[in-house]
Amino acid sequence: MVRPVQGHLNNQPAGMVKVNPIACVVGARPNYMKMSPLIRAFRERNIPSLLVHTGQHYDPEMNDRFFADLDLPRPHINLEVGSASHAVQTAEIMRRFEPVLDAYEPSAVLVVGDVNSTIACSLVAAKKRIPVIHVEAGLRSFDRNMPEEINRVLTDQIADLLYTTERTAHMNLAKEGVDDKRVHFVGNVMIDSLFAAQSSAVPPAVTLRQAGGNPDFIETPGGYGVVTLHRPSNVDDPDILRDLLATLSMVAERLPLVFAAHPRTRKNIEKFGQESLLHGRIQMLPPQGYLEMLGLMSGAKLVLTDSGGMQEETTALSVPCLTLRENTERPITVEQGTNTLVGRNREMILSNVDQILATGGKRGRVPEYWDGRAAERIAIHLQNWLNR
Ligand code: UD1
Repeated sequence: MVRPVQGHLNNQPAGMVKVNPIACVVGARPNYMKMSPLIRAFRERNIPSLLVHTGQHYDPEMNDRFFADLDLPRPHINLEVGSASHAVQTAEIMRRFEPVLDAYEPSAVLVVGDVNSTIACSLVAAKKRIPVIHVEAGLRSFDRNMPEEINRVLTDQIADLLYTTERTAHMNLAKEGVDDKRVHFVGNVMIDSLFAAQSSAVPPAVTLRQAGGNPDFIETPGGYGVVTLHRPSNVDDPDILRDLLATLSMVAERLPLVFAAHPRTRKNIEKFGQESLLHGRIQMLPPQGYLEMLGLMSGAKLVLTDSGGMQEETTALSVPCLTLRENTERPITVEQGTNTLVGRNREMILSNVDQILATGGKRGRVPEYWDGRAAERIAIHLQNWLNR
């Protein structure tokens, strides 16, 4: 079903060849901070855009709050697919996206990141011979157990224009036979959002108070840590989750932790009856808005996470990050930034926490082109490309 356009498509630029809008796709939480600076940069250059939300994420904490925090306009179209198995969710997005392309005949479809909405919409566009633009192309964990890795590899194969955040992505794409002429290094749009929002970040004490927690909890001289966990490989198996929560409770004996739990994680902790592992020095919070999370991360002594985006954000903020995964598709955060891969190994996690508490941990440096201007580079390049 194609809903009527609710907002205004951006105006056609003066002096530019008339082009149909670029259909810009978002679906899940990590897409919004990537799309926001792009929509802004397109608007500034009068590149017409049509914002399509697949509805993969729909809870207000996973969705609506981010639109407000990131100043993202209301989507023109919402496909309202919701949660389902990977196959059903992907298929349903494809089924509902095709009529949108028929109705609006976009000049291209722009997708970001690696979620199911990314591959689903790319596939529909490619089959209809509508150019696919992939922002954040070429990242590889080389771990096909991650659904996101499959989404990345396939999206890059069918994309016509690939914009990358780090130079290792070019090697990955070359090895997979992607023509170098299609690939452009522009930097990291997620960091555009971070720099734009930094001055509006919500102070951590305010966030805790709003969530019904006690701000004194984190206002100790020793500081606090931030935790997020949501990868199926970490939270779907009861033994693995129990082990991780037990490790976190040991970390919390050294440093109070604020744990902003994804709905999947929260549901599993309840389903497996593991609430008792979360003792008083772990403050559980619902998923936080962008500005709250930015404030929490900025003020933290360290971050423990399995998120891809937070590995990048902590590097940009110069806050030590321990990634609870065996691999990362974002190696630059380890090589140049503040990230350390610790997997689920308890000794490794605890020794890294001790080291950070003793020394302050890695400070790192902000990688090339993570400078707040990546979306602008994309818009300038795209404008020429569309004119051609
Ligand atoms: C998706 C992305 C992942 C990204 C994550 C960020 C894929 C394959 N995965 O994972 O890369 O890091 O988003 O959050 O696309 N749920 C809700 N409310 C919501 C959305 C989800 O309660 O608004 C619950 C449902 O129980 C659902 C489960 O979370 O079944 C998983 O949601 P889904 O969109 O399938 O994947 P994520 O784990 O969120």
